[in-house]
Amino acid sequence: MSPTTPPALSPLLDLGGRVALVTGASRGIGAATARLLGRCNARVAIHFGRSRAEAEAVAGEIALSGGPPAALFQAELASDDERRRLHREVASTLGDPLLLVHNAGIYVRNPFEETDDAAFLSRWRTTQAVNLEAAAHLTLLSLPAMRAARFGRVVMVASRAAFRAETDAASYAVSKAGMVSLARCLARNEGKHGITANAICPGWVDTAMARPDVAARRAEIEGEVPLGRIATPEDCARAILFYLSPLASYANGTALGLNGGSFLH
Ligand SMILES: NC(=O)c1ccc[n+]([C@@H]2O[C@H](COP(=O)([O-])OP(=O)(O)OC[C@H]3O[C@@H](n4cnc5c(N)ncnc54)[C@H](OP(=O)(O)O)[C@@H]3O)[C@@H](O)[C@H]2O)c1
Repeated sequence: MSPTTPPALSPLLDLGGRVALVTGASRGIGAATARLLGRCNARVAIHFGRSRAEAEAVAGEIALSGGPPAALFQAELASDDERRRLHREVASTLGDPLLLVHNAGIYVRNPFEETDDAAFLSRWRTTQAVNLEAAAHLTLLSLPAMRAARFGRVVMVASRAAFRAETDAASYAVSKAGMVSLARCLARNEGKHGITANAICPGWVDTAMARPDVAARRAEIEGEVPLGRIATPEDCARAILFYLSPLASYANGTALGLNGGSFLH
């Protein structure tokens, strides 16, 4: 085997050359997911917002690992029109995305102690648009091709916050609870077309999003986790791969807690 030949893939993990759209794949959980899906024979649409250089690096790593060529797609996910353009460009460049990973997201504190209601509403609406509405909209745009193929896999990257709630970021927790509910609605409506939808619900993950909190109180956060460590982006990527792969043939409408045992319900 030459150094560039990828290791043989178990058929249970082989994504069959299908097109996987991973939103927010320039860094963090999305980047780890894009790299892993590429290694598992998906043609990855690497979506990014602002971090083009990071997204290019992810595409380079997929190429080095021997995965099918990936392609980059920029779009601001708060915008309806940019989501439509994103879907159009992915379909015309790589083919219809039958594997969707709704990962891009923002975490903005928005406490109920806020006295400026317009500022509260603005943060609320942006969070719902990026985290929840984009997932619903991109799924809607992808469903016709999935139904025609009698196959589709949708994974929401939700959060432990969907179930544990947040004291100072209700807009975030509500958006993530919405993603879990969206997966369940899709599961019930689309199962008859061979389309499944599921959610993963991570606790703390060591990424740029969590870094300020983790830097400030790592010992406290790790102390709440029976496994004794914060998740890596790769921990999340493996769970996402599970849902996209033949291993999860009967999983539909589920929400996988991925928090090291820190929040059990
Ligand atoms: N980290 C955690 O502790 C944790 C825990 C539970 C759930 N999650 C969820 O996991 C997902 C990934 O988070 P992460 O920790 O990997 O975060 P991250 O490192 O901050 O990455 C966020 C990604 O989303 C993209 N993005 C954000 N806003 C966007 C917008 N308006 N338009 C387009 N793209 C946008 C970013 O793209 P650019 O940089 O290219 O703009 C980036 O690729 C999120 O949905 C998050 O809520 C994270």
